[in-house]
Amino acid sequence: MSRKILVTAALPYANGPLHIGHLMEQVQTDIWVRYQRLRGNECLWVWADDAHGTPIMLKAAELGISPQELIDQVKADHERDIAGFLLSPDNFHTTHSDENREIAELIYGRLNDAGLIRKRTIKQLFDPKENMFLPDRYVKGDCPNCKSADQYGDNCEVCSATYDATELGNPVSVVSGATPELRDSEQHFFALSDYTDMLREWTTSGTLQPEIANKIREWLDEGLQDWDISRNAPYWGFEIPDAPGKYFYVWLDAPIGYIASHKNLSDRTDGMDYLSSWKADSDVELYHFIGKDIANFHTLFWPAMLEGAGFRKPTGVFCHGFLMVDDAKMSKSRGTSIRAATWLEHLDAEYLRYYLAAKLNSSVVDLNLNLDDFVMRVNADLVGKVVNIASRCAGFVTKRFDSQLSATFPADRQADYDAMVAAGDSILHHYETREYGKAIREIMLLAEQANVYIADAEPWVKIKDDSQSQAVQDICTVALNYFRIIVTYLSPVLPALADKTADFLQSPLSLDALESPLVNHTIGKFKPMMTRVEQDNVDRVIEATKALNDTPATPAPTGPLADDPIKPEISFDDFNKLDLRIALITAAEHVEGADKLLQLTLDIGGETRQVFAGIKSAYAPEDLVGKQTVMVANLAPRKMRFGLSEGMVLAAGPGGKDLFVLHPDDGAMPGMRVK
Ligand code: MSP
Ligand code: ZN
Repeated sequence: MSRKILVTAALPYANGPLHIGHLMEQVQTDIWVRYQRLRGNECLWVWADDAHGTPIMLKAAELGISPQELIDQVKADHERDIAGFLLSPDNFHTTHSDENREIAELIYGRLNDAGLIRKRTIKQLFDPKENMFLPDRYVKGDCPNCKSADQYGDNCEVCSATYDATELGNPVSVVSGATPELRDSEQHFFALSDYTDMLREWTTSGTLQPEIANKIREWLDEGLQDWDISRNAPYWGFEIPDAPGKYFYVWLDAPIGYIASHKNLSDRTDGMDYLSSWKADSDVELYHFIGKDIANFHTLFWPAMLEGAGFRKPTGVFCHGFLMVDDAKMSKSRGTSIRAATWLEHLDAEYLRYYLAAKLNSSVVDLNLNLDDFVMRVNADLVGKVVNIASRCAGFVTKRFDSQLSATFPADRQADYDAMVAAGDSILHHYETREYGKAIREIMLLAEQANVYIADAEPWVKIKDDSQSQAVQDICTVALNYFRIIVTYLSPVLPALADKTADFLQSPLSLDALESPLVNHTIGKFKPMMTRVEQDNVDRVIEATKALNDTPATPAPTGPLADDPIKPEISFDDFNKLDLRIALITAAEHVEGADKLLQLTLDIGGETRQVFAGIKSAYAPEDLVGKQTVMVANLAPRKMRFGLSEGMVLAAGPGGKDLFVLHPDDGAMPGMRVK
């Protein structure tokens, strides 16, 4: 009997483009969904953008557009990337939608009727200049934990602590620069603590991975706080019914967006009773794919809200770790925070899908994209092992046998064929349990077997002997049937390769179809199915990613920059014209009639220069002798009142007494280039 399954991936924030970290989760979800469909289960993936909250207001303000314009643009971008990466959601909606407003109001209303919403007055930061309460991200100040300056009111980017905006030291309003005051403000709280027992039971009933269940147990043991689900205007979201000026906090309506997307899909396609999937007694399985950073929202707040409103709870929450690149957090400056769109400009979506699949498992550990390993692995496995099977045989079939496979399957190969099909049980089980890496390993073993078979059978030798013609056709028939099995098992990971294969074999791929081999059948024309990954293209992705981040919004200058701003930008070529060298100061003398200048004799390693430098106020001549400095060695000589100056020495500092040259240290040698 086929299962009815509803799947979600986390709703990406509509304040920026998708990157490969998001994609890791989305590819993980897509593989699972495609696997379920391959199995013949009814599997729906309902999905959306998360379009509310302060980060979206801030981003829109930064770009000088309205939040609506921002979320519309971002949604279009996300949809393009979703298609580009061959993700197969049944619906991609937005949380800023009529459906979501309706269901959020319904759920809130039910919670309210059940006495689960409690109003409480708390102290919040208020901007006296702008006359408004300040959302967390509109306040900056010193982190209460590590004291780092300039941190937002919700969490610290330096030490990752989370806290309340009222705990910031020296708070400043981002909107007006004023010092905020504490004022009373009435907020709406959801009675999360009422659900402690239910959550203790639900989180230990096989719904969660053991690592997550343990973490949740710690939280439950510490005791749950009621949850503030309201925010003061101005806020980009849904206003709370009967509470003018109060809005639902983004995390209240975000997961409701799953239901809203489902409703939107049913309304558009009619005939689907979406609500029955969400009723308390539903027999539909419901799974959420999410990152470990948002586990508490999905394993505490969300099930409690669903329970309180009389809806069903998730069957399982599948958490994953974070994607690292070359063993480090994705970084903009290193060019590893790669946008989906940048990847697609230079590399195939399926390369990434395959590599991620080869690495993914059911645990919460972080996963590493090693770029060298990536190139090697994709080329060795996909090009070298898989596609190779078809490309070694296709030509013979087309040219010598009029595109015909043998009339019957060679009897002595039937057992091997059956064994290869049977290997699918274990492979499919690995997909089901999200052990994709294990599935890929077993599929690659099949591909190796197929290659060994072809190598031993040597069709390219036999083809020269007309009496062996039938043997060659049989070898190709066997090999192409192996290829069909392998690609069918890879199809959740590589849907485009699967489509090309179905086209080439002129036969749709399915598990049922594998029961009997393809024989007495005309195949299509073989077109190259996948090309090698080139290191150059990987380099281009990194370079393009770095370039995207070279123009960040300029922060207000502080320290020396405030008094001494940076000069207009120069090109790399301009910079390259400078020849900077380490110079040893071998002599320094007062200059008659000059109150700032010293005459320096500089050794730049085999050449001596005379330079007049304005550093008399900072150094007595005798203190300079024996020290090193950096000089511009190719500056045109300048005739000065006192003589010829053959270059320029560099020193740090604003001038006057505060000028600094280098100490002779172990490393620098006169004449060395400074880069
Ligand atoms: N909008 C919320 C989710 C609401 S769900 C009702 C959100 N959005 S997000 O855009 O920040 O993240 C979306 C998903 O991407 C999250 O599950 C998050 O864990 C995941 N990832 C973001 N960066 C990631 C990596 N570097 N690696 C793996 N997953 C990552 O959170
Ligand atoms: Zn901190």
